[in-house]
Amino acid sequence: MKPKVLLTVGTRPEAIKLAPVVAALRAHGGFEVRVLFTGQHRELLDQMADFFDLRADRDLQVMQAGQTLPELTARLMRGIDAVLADEQPTVVLTQGDTTTVLVTALGCYYRRIPVGHVEAGLRTADLFSPFPEEGNRRLASVLTAHHFAPTERSAANLRAEGIAEDRIHVTGNTVVDALQQIVQRDLPLPEGIPAEGPLALVTMHRRENHGAPLRGLLGAMRDLCAAYPDLTLVYPVHPNPNVQGPAREILGDVPNARLLPPVGYGEFVGLMKRATLMLTDSGGVQEEGPSIGLPILVLRDTTERPEGIDAGVAKLCGTDPAVVLREARRLLDDPAARAAMQGAENPYGDGRAAARIVEVLAAAYL
Ligand code: UD1
Ligand code: UDP
Repeated sequence: MKPKVLLTVGTRPEAIKLAPVVAALRAHGGFEVRVLFTGQHRELLDQMADFFDLRADRDLQVMQAGQTLPELTARLMRGIDAVLADEQPTVVLTQGDTTTVLVTALGCYYRRIPVGHVEAGLRTADLFSPFPEEGNRRLASVLTAHHFAPTERSAANLRAEGIAEDRIHVTGNTVVDALQQIVQRDLPLPEGIPAEGPLALVTMHRRENHGAPLRGLLGAMRDLCAAYPDLTLVYPVHPNPNVQGPAREILGDVPNARLLPPVGYGEFVGLMKRATLMLTDSGGVQEEGPSIGLPILVLRDTTERPEGIDAGVAKLCGTDPAVVLREARRLLDDPAARAAMQGAENPYGDGRAAARIVEVLAAAYL
């Protein structure tokens, strides 16, 4: 009987980053591969599953509009445990730092099933930034058997926490695998996006920015649009009601701001290739930008992805609207400032992360 690998997928970035791992495990042929969608996200997850042809063997459908973290956690715990009891996997893979990841790790611990954590070892120095992701990934690390660290830096974070060397594997980030599959294609832009002219691409959804910081950042976007009438600001807005409301209220009537529903991965990568600069609080986007040569302004006070900052391809701006506006203006006005943030090698991976993860699993379980 083949060892059974179960992968849990809850949100958009988990689908993007685990799709290459599922494909590599299937191509290897030595494992029975099962995919559990927790459905922490519904529309966002389905959109990515369609793009990557990622089919769920089990689906928990836990999303409820605007539910609290404790409600989400409790619903996930019951659902994941029932699937573990039923499936009896040899090993479980989970990715990143969402509530799905924390509950997967805890559920596996209760049932003494080993966990492989993809994208392990990312850290900020602040347990509340990003919230609750920093807590989720630290807690998951304590319960993990195989730590798949994307970079040497993340591996060093794990060593510093006392994780044994033989459990840490530096693989690169699987998002680079996903991106490399499509980035060379001629990718269509969403309807109505001009093919020429300056374009600023925006994503924002972090919980610690909800409320006043998010409103301030949206105000900076509004001011940027007013200062550059020839700029197109494109913002695919996250479906979280705490983001949708302020985004529509502050940018809805700005003529050169295009608020879109979340776009498919192909269209989003197309937009990144087309963009002059990126303003974001996303994790994954910071890892994708260097492969595209896209200058990135990080709208957060901390980042667990310092590699891009050190390489000079991303800049940590915080959430002060005046600073964000100044940095965006500098990149729009000065081609040399833009050029200085392009052209470095991607410090997050080389496109072979999924293959390395499968090698480790094969050595452990075959
Ligand atoms: C979650 C993760 C975050 C990750 C992000 C990626 C947690 C606590 N947070 O944040 O780490 O960066 O996903 O996008 O795990 N909603 C929909 N449809 C969807 C998705 C979300 O309507 O397809 C709405 C629902 O009202 C939901 C709310 O957004 O309750 C928040 O979703 P949730 O998964 O709790 O947190 P995110 O902010 O999306
Ligand atoms: N993304 C996408 N469509 C969008 C916005 C983002 O495909 O409308 C992709 C993006 O390329 C990146 C990932 O989604 O790979 C980032 O997801 P998100 O911002 O939801 O989560 P985070 O990376 O912050 O956890």
